[in-house]
Amino acid sequence: MNRKSTSWTSPSNIALVKYWGKIDNQIPINPSISFTLKESLTKTKITFEESTDFEYEFFFDGVKKDDFRPKLNTFFERSKSFFPSLNFLKLKIESSNTFPHSSGIASSASAFSALTLCLLDNEVKDSSYDKDFFLRASHISRLGSGSASRSLFGPISIWGKTSEIQNSSDENAVVLDNMPIDFPKFYDSILLVDEGEKKVSSSAGHELMRNHRFKSLRILQSNINFKNLIKSINEKDLGLFIKIVEDEALTLHALMMTSNPSFILFKPNTIEIINRIREFRNNNHVDMCFTLDAGANVHLLYPEYSRIEVIDFIENELLKFCKSNKYIDDSVGMGPSKIH
Ligand code: PMV
Repeated sequence: MNRKSTSWTSPSNIALVKYWGKIDNQIPINPSISFTLKESLTKTKITFEESTDFEYEFFFDGVKKDDFRPKLNTFFERSKSFFPSLNFLKLKIESSNTFPHSSGIASSASAFSALTLCLLDNEVKDSSYDKDFFLRASHISRLGSGSASRSLFGPISIWGKTSEIQNSSDENAVVLDNMPIDFPKFYDSILLVDEGEKKVSSSAGHELMRNHRFKSLRILQSNINFKNLIKSINEKDLGLFIKIVEDEALTLHALMMTSNPSFILFKPNTIEIINRIREFRNNNHVDMCFTLDAGANVHLLYPEYSRIEVIDFIENELLKFCKSNKYIDDSVGMGPSKIH
């Protein structure tokens, strides 16, 4: 029997301008931009075996997991035209994360991008992992989770058509190039406020944007924020960068709170940490800012030159507000890697 396997790691990412709300076919209502992470990765291996039909089994951390099947089935349904050979293959999909499963870190971005890379790798005969390969992988990953489209490129990735970026697209992400070379290397210390499962999924949140009373204002605001964020990077204006990133984080949660029905994902300690970050920044003039994903954890972003002061601040002042006094020490990375 013919058996072949391929294996990739792919990172999670943290949005600076958030994707929140879509139109049909996983097309975003606004452009988004993110830092690709370095340490928070999904590692996926697929073993392909000839078969008369398409079949698959999914294992997470070595344990067969059927509760992931509904999401995976939707993804396979949407993406099957890209993988003609799947009709006659049985797949053994084995996945694991470098970050704790229950940490509340968005794993769909790293999971769907790693899965797509393995599937696409099996379709390309010449193993040329060129720009086009990653653009296709980004397009297909989007069909599993919108934000997964951005995990294919580092250090900064953009998804959604915008007049600000020439080759931008609603179908796939692109890398931000022509960045000023000395734009500082950034860290992301992820403060784990709540390790539980989210009460409202991102898919449900996106759905609530369809008829959201602030939808048109949000589209306007995100486009302005996007434009200014690019400006802040090009002009190395950290003050502007910080202002926009925090505005986006709070807007994301404000949109959740003003949805119908309304929901709240942050926790009292999220607010405590945010207030402490602002106070420390004001008092000590340290360049750093917070952002939030769809959850209670706080991502603390800062350039390399702030590292010593920020780590000290986290350990002395913030860890007491984290679950089990834990944080993930991550930084900005360059995207996926093939393992074999
Ligand atoms: O990719 P999804 O469908 O899980 O949505 C992600 C949405 C946010 O993480 C909240 C924002 C973003 O742009 O990553």
